[in-house]
Amino acid sequence: MKQFKRYLITSALPYANGPVHIGHLAGVYIPSDIYVRYLRGRGADVKWVCGSDEHGVPITIKARKEGVTPQDVVDKYNKIIKDAFQELGISFDIYSRTSSPTHAATASDFFRLLYDKGEFIEQETEQFYDEEASQFLADRYITGTCPHCGNERAYGDQCEACGTTLNATDLINPKSAISGSVPVMRKTKHWFLPLDKHEPFLRQWILDQHKEWKPNVYGQCKSWLDAGLQPRAVSRDLNWGIPVPVEGAEGKVLYVWFDAPIGYISATKELTDDWEKYWKDPDTKMVHFIGKDNIVFHCIVFPSMLKAHGGYILPDNVPANEFLNLEGDKISTSRNWAVWLHEYLADFPGKQDVLRYVLCANAPETKDNDFTWRDFQARNNNELVAILGNFVNRALVLTTKYFDGKVPACGELTDFDREIMAQVAASKGAIESFIEAYRFRDALREMMNIARAGNKYLADTEPWKLFKDDPARVATILNLSLQITASLSIAMEPFIPFSAAKLTSMLGVDRLSWERLGAADILSVGHLLGKPELLFDKIDDEAVDAQLAKLEAAKAINAAAGYEPAPQKESISYDDFQKMDIRIARILEAEKVAKTKKLLKLTIDTGIDKRVIVSGIAEHYSPEQLIGKQVLVLVNLLPRELKGITSQGMILMVEDHNGALVAVSPEKEVKEGTMVG
Ligand code: MF3
Ligand code: ZN
Repeated sequence: MKQFKRYLITSALPYANGPVHIGHLAGVYIPSDIYVRYLRGRGADVKWVCGSDEHGVPITIKARKEGVTPQDVVDKYNKIIKDAFQELGISFDIYSRTSSPTHAATASDFFRLLYDKGEFIEQETEQFYDEEASQFLADRYITGTCPHCGNERAYGDQCEACGTTLNATDLINPKSAISGSVPVMRKTKHWFLPLDKHEPFLRQWILDQHKEWKPNVYGQCKSWLDAGLQPRAVSRDLNWGIPVPVEGAEGKVLYVWFDAPIGYISATKELTDDWEKYWKDPDTKMVHFIGKDNIVFHCIVFPSMLKAHGGYILPDNVPANEFLNLEGDKISTSRNWAVWLHEYLADFPGKQDVLRYVLCANAPETKDNDFTWRDFQARNNNELVAILGNFVNRALVLTTKYFDGKVPACGELTDFDREIMAQVAASKGAIESFIEAYRFRDALREMMNIARAGNKYLADTEPWKLFKDDPARVATILNLSLQITASLSIAMEPFIPFSAAKLTSMLGVDRLSWERLGAADILSVGHLLGKPELLFDKIDDEAVDAQLAKLEAAKAINAAAGYEPAPQKESISYDDFQKMDIRIARILEAEKVAKTKKLLKLTIDTGIDKRVIVSGIAEHYSPEQLIGKQVLVLVNLLPRELKGITSQGMILMVEDHNGALVAVSPEKEVKEGTMVG
């Protein structure tokens, strides 16, 4: 394997049109932070760059909706994102932004150089034009029906339902997202990067020379290449972005996916005058951390740009992750189905490491994965508290108790002592190989295995039973336990740096170098430890229930707001429909069900009979508001027992955009018992 002299690590630039959520963290920022912290611990020469991606159509759409400028939008989210990353301990060397002057110059020069070298195709094409708004419609400014899956809300650049990349002209029934009008076709000139020209090179570079890339990345590249590459437009008719630096290109800007990856170069320039060493010397190992939706841009488009430019190195690896789901559903910004980092930090102060731990343990490295709040709680309580925290605490507290908090002397070792210490020493190499193979979940498990070994050691040797008869043996056991604890502080640092720092301070040492991991003489005899504290504490049901309630609320609001109306259900026959016996009924009596917040006991006249229905609407209607009202009732629903009352049927309700329940009533009075149908 090639030995590199230095590293340049990039993490996908987040779009500055919304905050960062756990999906971004698990897919990109936590793995890259682990990787970089590990490299730094080994004393490697590493630069890690990131920043906000501040151009593109979605930002202008958001600005238009909110009645502010695109600059206002990106200023707001750049700050939210940057602050939240920092608080989570995501340790970029620089977090820049693509609205910076350095970036405008870098991207503009890059384009100009390719233009001068004749690396673009200049072409007039017909594009959608909104005559009401007097503007060309690029990407997300166009919506319509996806030709592949029939989703009616596909965008001009992508269908989010089936994931297909689209051209605006592929859409069926295209509509302008600005005015809603039907766009016309108009001629406009653009510059295209002829990816087809780079295809032979890409095939060789990826398919032959990078067979070690993750199967999901390699596979996606292969299918793009096998399908045949096409020229891609790198300019847009838009007034937000970096102007195309060519005469006669007024009103045109660089396509956001052309300028954004150049943002990695700009950020490196802002970070160090030595930037060229990191971008041009083949002894630099460049790694792009991204999510799977970015693979084509980082493995095919950007490398083609770098190759066309000349003089730049290409990435050694692009360890893209799959997606993280939340409670079984796809994370969605528009549906607010997400755990937002800035909200987590506010709701769980001081618990950065818990989120880091859980997201690494659950990282979607090889397939899509699911985050659930119950799993979050279980991993905290059963792993961080019960395994890691418990071992560290026992080692420190026992030392305080028996040896006044000073590292006791190590006597002769038993076979078992040697076995445990060998295990800890072996974990160093294992963690290294896993991290270097971008297998962060496995690396994390190895880190935890050190704590598991420590716990086993204490459980098997039971020093608390020996002190009276054999204090020297207890000294040996605790000496080794403390050495293991010191090793743990080293191994923890890339994954859970806040707890690692707390642990080193409890051990009374400065941060230890990676190379010491596994050594049996990290702490010297007589060294005075700091004060033992708990590393982690339990997360109770209440905290988790509050998060689940928040998600439920988001679901209700978004469903009702019609952001994305629930998809139409599977077709049924008229007979299926007729099975439902829905009738007009009148509410005769209504009272609260004792000891519940939500339930009302309603006595209704269905025309057939008088019966009782228990309904969860007490927070939305008072009994007085309901008495005398006509409503629709599903009368042949199987009876259910609720709080000891038999409920016979269901009152039909809808949820409005605030999540409030609204009863459905006939438009004018109708005789009770009349059937709906
Ligand atoms: N903003 C893009 C996204 O969130 C990522 C851009 S990565 C870069 O999907 F390479 F273009 F910078
Ligand atoms: Zn589709």
